[in-house]
Amino acid sequence: MTATEVFDLVALGEDFVRDPYPVYAALRERGPVHRVRIPEGAEAWLVVGYEAGRAALVDPRLSKQWKNASPSFPISSPSAGPHMLNSDPPDHERLRKLVVREFTPRRIDQLGPRVAQITNELLDAMAARPDSRADLVEALSFPLPISVICELLGVPMLDRAAFRAWTGTILSDPDARVRKAATGEMAAYLTDLLERKRQAPGRDLMSGLIRTTDEDGDRLSAHELLGTAWLLLVAGHETTVNLISNGVLALLTHPDQLAALREDMSLIDNAVEEMLRYDGPVETPTFRFTTAPVEIGGTVIPGDGQLVLVALADANHDAARFPTPDHFDIRRAAGGHVAFGHGIHYCLGAPLARLEARIAIRTLLDRFPDLTLDAHPAALTWRPGMLIRGPVGLPVRWGT
Ligand code: HEM
Repeated sequence: MTATEVFDLVALGEDFVRDPYPVYAALRERGPVHRVRIPEGAEAWLVVGYEAGRAALVDPRLSKQWKNASPSFPISSPSAGPHMLNSDPPDHERLRKLVVREFTPRRIDQLGPRVAQITNELLDAMAARPDSRADLVEALSFPLPISVICELLGVPMLDRAAFRAWTGTILSDPDARVRKAATGEMAAYLTDLLERKRQAPGRDLMSGLIRTTDEDGDRLSAHELLGTAWLLLVAGHETTVNLISNGVLALLTHPDQLAALREDMSLIDNAVEEMLRYDGPVETPTFRFTTAPVEIGGTVIPGDGQLVLVALADANHDAARFPTPDHFDIRRAAGGHVAFGHGIHYCLGAPLARLEARIAIRTLLDRFPDLTLDAHPAALTWRPGMLIRGPVGLPVRWGT
């Protein structure tokens, strides 16, 4: 098979969703780029391997703007408006800079005690369950990040269930019409919320973004505010959910690593980096489109708006960069992984995601000294699609 013949990832079915790593590794053996069919029904060029993946992520010929997609591209943008992740320079720099003014390390650090408090409340409820069993996704992984991002942005508590449904659909539903409808509903809700905040600003990030003006008097337009609020809510929650779930799953299926961490909790920071590398929440990040021919490993991708996907999951399992990559080792030098992307679109929320995961996992282990998995790992159901990777549910038990 040559790099330009279409390899149908969808035909691999559930096996690929459950464990895509061997498929990517086999493709990497043959070369760094492959033509594939993806679950959304489109064809794409899939870049595998660490070096090729990092190079693609910083290649200016790969545009993040959907208007650069080929006219025959069958999928429409899921976004509610312009934002940094669907922009190229110079717009990208401008949009990111205006958000960075408000999304400050100080604002994130101040969240630490609140993250700990929400975690403890959630774990109180979990510990009170009479059967000593829970679905960790429902009990902790999901509610923690959504509470944190909604509090940060100033989204009312009552509306959080709706957000879960919208963001889940937008990121994982294979039906484009369903994804579009969810984006429309979420956009209508956010437009209304932004208007209410304009009338009565608070101390939250969304009010800050409405207010913020840079030294040249530049500010986010109404449309950009909507796009940015949408991006922060979607990017800020589904991803962290799966860092917590995938990380805990890795620990529970590697008892030696779990014991090492319990024995020395100072390893938690490195353990979280290894969780990001070993089974990160973003399998292939958002779409990129060619604006000029791009040659990768001897294959030329035409420059007419072809979709290019970078397999972050495979870059993080490339033996050329991480020795024995399929081995989960919380002491390894996991730095340099690309779980948060690379280049100008490097994840803005990485410090927040790390803060939440460290607190959530450390507190969980402290409070449940005998936590175990309550299902065979092979029986878990995984989220569909190639963007977000994580189990739909994670049954755990304790005290038995
Ligand atoms: C474990 C959790 C997270 C992971 C694995 C993750 C991963 C990523 C990745 C891979 C990208 C780059 C996408 C690309 O190049 O196509 C990205 C971008 C981004 N992420 Fe995250 N993310 C996480 C949490 C968060 C959180 C908590 C927030 C916000 C509160 C956030 C906000 C963003 C934003 C705004 C961008 C776009 C940056 C830009 O275009 O300049 N992320 N993230």
